[in-house]
Amino acid sequence: MIKALRGMKDIIDDKFLKIFDTTREVAQNYGFSYIETPILEETRLFKRSVGESSDIVNKEMYEFIDKGGNEVCLRPEGTAGVVRSYIEHKFDRLETPKRFWYFGPMFRYERPQKGRFREFHQFGVESFKEPSVWEDINIIAMAADIFDKLGIKYTLKINSLGCSECMPKYKEKLVEFLQKHKDSLCEDCQRRIKQNPIRTLDCKLNSCQAILKEAPKITDHLCKTCQEDFEKLQKGLDNLEIKYEIDKNLVRGLDYYTKTTFEFISNEIGAQSAIAGGGRYDKLVESLGGKPTPAVGFAIGIERIMDLIKEEDKREGIYIGAMIEEAIPFIQKEAKKLRKDQKVYVEVKPKSLKAHLKAADKGKFKKALIVGEDELKKGEFFEKEL
Ligand code: HAM
Repeated sequence: MIKALRGMKDIIDDKFLKIFDTTREVAQNYGFSYIETPILEETRLFKRSVGESSDIVNKEMYEFIDKGGNEVCLRPEGTAGVVRSYIEHKFDRLETPKRFWYFGPMFRYERPQKGRFREFHQFGVESFKEPSVWEDINIIAMAADIFDKLGIKYTLKINSLGCSECMPKYKEKLVEFLQKHKDSLCEDCQRRIKQNPIRTLDCKLNSCQAILKEAPKITDHLCKTCQEDFEKLQKGLDNLEIKYEIDKNLVRGLDYYTKTTFEFISNEIGAQSAIAGGGRYDKLVESLGGKPTPAVGFAIGIERIMDLIKEEDKREGIYIGAMIEEAIPFIQKEAKKLRKDQKVYVEVKPKSLKAHLKAADKGKFKKALIVGEDELKKGEFFEKEL
């Protein structure tokens, strides 16, 4: 038997569409426009954005050479492709901000486990040309709205990674600290000291965390502007009554972030608890060849939130069935009329009244309309509320 590849799965669950509809509605209500970018992109796009030192680029990319000899890669995330498109369509030359939302499959060659797949879906948004921290608050509020609408509980964690003024000075201090404790750190962290020292801060090993507790923290070394913006971020979230925790170790696994970073965590789904993540990336458009353009965005992991949506025990729609085959044209015609403004299911197999009512009840319909010989003659239904 041929099976789906490891870490990939069929989605046979209407909750997926419910999430799609909710995210689409909220994004459109916030004034974001839809964007669909190719799933396959040049490998160097991700190397230059997500970053050569990240796990995603280092270990997890589905990359190959296509028949034309091009180095290509299935997208591991959505931001890089949207930025490429933004520059390619010369939106970076406009004065006006652009705001996009997307929904689609992403691919990471990770070790599969609960909540971690090799093909998964993200809903994401990217907002360009708005440097103000109030925009960060806007998009965090959007994610919170989506979770509220879907009935998902979360903890929001926020941090600031500073800017090109304060981050390099902080990095020097951190590297100094890490060098002092080098021998006690794990191999990965030892490598990170050179490649990307701030990634040591979110090392999962307890032995490293014990040492890193004492490490200097970026939020204690922010420049004046970054410090003020981080305070505004907190005030803005307070104003909208969005609860948050400051997590000084929240550095994120992608290299392009500056200033605000955030993650939404769920306590109900085990180890892979991040249900959304994002932040500001003010340098990325420029580093991919565009005009300097501030930007901020986030993405929600769809598979992770599917498990968190509770099935409502709600009855809806009408079930129509016939007890004799001669009545089927009648019920199909009636269904066509009724379907204009409601959900109507037609059972095409003739059955007894009892069997129809049982099926309608099991299908969680609100009402059953059944036609037997007598009803057909009169042109009416036997009607039952369920
Ligand atoms: P990310 O944190 O790598 O960020 O992914 C966002 C979300 O995708 C995660 O919080 C998680 O819910 C889900 N996710 C990631 N990997 C997997 C996996 N292997 N299986 C299932 N779900 C997964 C980004 O991708 C950034 N592009 C977000 C962003 C947009 N930042 C700015 N704009």
